[in-house]
Amino acid sequence: MYEQYWSLKEKPFQNTPDPKYLYLSSQHEDALMKLTYVVAQNLGAGLLSGVFGCGKTLLARVILKDLGIQKFCTAYISNPLVSEPSEIIRAIVRSLSPQDLPDRKSEILVDPLLEKMHNILLDNAREGRQNIVIIDEAHTIEDPRIFEQLRLILNFQTENKFLLTLILLGQPEIKAKVDALKPLAQRVPIRCQLDPLSGKGVGAYMAHRIKVAVGDGESDVVAILADDVVASIAKYSGGIPRRINTLCDLILLSGFAKKTKKIDNNFVDSVIKEFSLT
Ligand SMILES: Nc1ncnc2c1ncn2[C@@H]1O[C@H](COP(=O)(O)OP(=O)(O)OP(=O)(O)O)[C@@H](O)[C@H]1O
Ligand SMILES: [Mg+2]
Repeated sequence: MYEQYWSLKEKPFQNTPDPKYLYLSSQHEDALMKLTYVVAQNLGAGLLSGVFGCGKTLLARVILKDLGIQKFCTAYISNPLVSEPSEIIRAIVRSLSPQDLPDRKSEILVDPLLEKMHNILLDNAREGRQNIVIIDEAHTIEDPRIFEQLRLILNFQTENKFLLTLILLGQPEIKAKVDALKPLAQRVPIRCQLDPLSGKGVGAYMAHRIKVAVGDGESDVVAILADDVVASIAKYSGGIPRRINTLCDLILLSGFAKKTKKIDNNFVDSVIKEFSLT
């Protein structure tokens, strides 16, 4: 909408988990390295926690993209809010191998589903493909039986390796939920956390996204990177990327609507008021 006005190839601040826009702050880099290590070394399970909007889902997308489809078979469960342990297994089987999903009524029971899953994992392993299961929003799981079920599938192993790598993503309360189940906690050797960006990090994050969106050309949108503007955006957003994106997108929209390219901290405040951002 405002791309042409600001000489942009794309909108820089969209709230979508597009790996192309990944800004590797030191903590994002650390988390990416640790989770990649869990996968590469077949360590069983890893946990990525962090407040809302800090980049957990985006990092999962980056990992999936980097893995490609050649050597890995991945199941990405975006919504683990299920009422029965069998449903989480069913969701994983569906994601790993939709054609193998049992449809007979008796097979909604957990045992046949687990057997089916075990066979899929073994087949993939025999064909040299590693199985990765990513459970996003894992903090929403209330029923300990679901976590217990996830622990049980980590028991699928050959003599020398795990048959799957499990990665749990969730808001900070996920850590306590995992720790409440000692046998599961012991099987999660690698943990990492994403916190909000620092003040400096906010500016670097914005500059990175603008660079990707501008490409080789030049754009007046860099006006948004003035120190006082970045400071206002950092204050409003608390360093949370999703909040930074929302505000920056509205600043660019408002500049376009008002036909101004002069962005200062008063302009930022007026946008926060105009759009009733909280
Ligand atoms: N490191 C980053 N580089 C670029 N963009 C980012 C980064 N971190 C977050 N974002 C942006 O912020 C948006 C929100 O991030 P994401 O959805 O990954 O957060 P989340 O931690 O999964 O939040 P929630 O707990 O609410 O699910 C992303 O769509 C992305 O546009
Ligand atoms: Mg998320």
